Amino acid sequence: MTPEDLKLLVRTIPDFPKPGILFRDVTTLMGHGEGFAAAVALMADKVAASGAEAVAGIEARGFIFGAAIAARLGLAFIPVRKPGKLPVPVLAIDYALEYGTDTLEVDPGAVGEGRRVVLIDDLLATGGTALAALELLRRAGGTVSHALFLVDLPDLGGAERLQGAGIAVEALLDYP
Ligand code: PRP
Ligand code: HPA
Repeated sequence: MTPEDLKLLVRTIPDFPKPGILFRDVTTLMGHGEGFAAAVALMADKVAASGAEAVAGIEARGFIFGAAIAARLGLAFIPVRKPGKLPVPVLAIDYALEYGTDTLEVDPGAVGEGRRVVLIDDLLATGGTALAALELLRRAGGTVSHALFLVDLPDLGGAERLQGAGIAVEALLDYP
């Protein structure tokens, strides 16, 4: 399946979770076995080309794609978690979302000094979530030079923000 085929599997819901937001819902792509496998395979090829040694995924939807990609390539998976979930002292950061604010946490011991880590999430909107995750992974010693998303919403400027923080950004699908 091509990225164009995959685009047809993403459902669009107006006014969720707030009026004025056009929500790109990737659960319908995940619910299509062949489409999900193709998305994971295409993303895994990009991760392999980046030379990453580990894959970091952002809770929750970044876990679904990140873990599948990591397992496919035999790479470690580093969970970047929502607050209060990790049973060890964490590095934490607050960040602004397209709608609201939240906190991310990482176990510094999960990253490894100098390890080449690629950052994965399902969707890039304003980039606030990915920038926060990038900052945490770098504070934990990771070398992060690539971020990869299933979907980019380029009008929201996330890719520019991440590039400004010194990383290459790729996405399989975009919705201008
Ligand atoms: C969504 C999405 C990204 C983030 C993108 O996650 O999965 O992580 O928002 O937005 P941004 O680029 O403007 O930061 P959400 O916080 O809704 O959490 P979920 O994965 O747990 O559903
Ligand atoms: N879809 C899914 N997740 C999101 C979106 C969206 O349009 N915007 C921010 N997170």
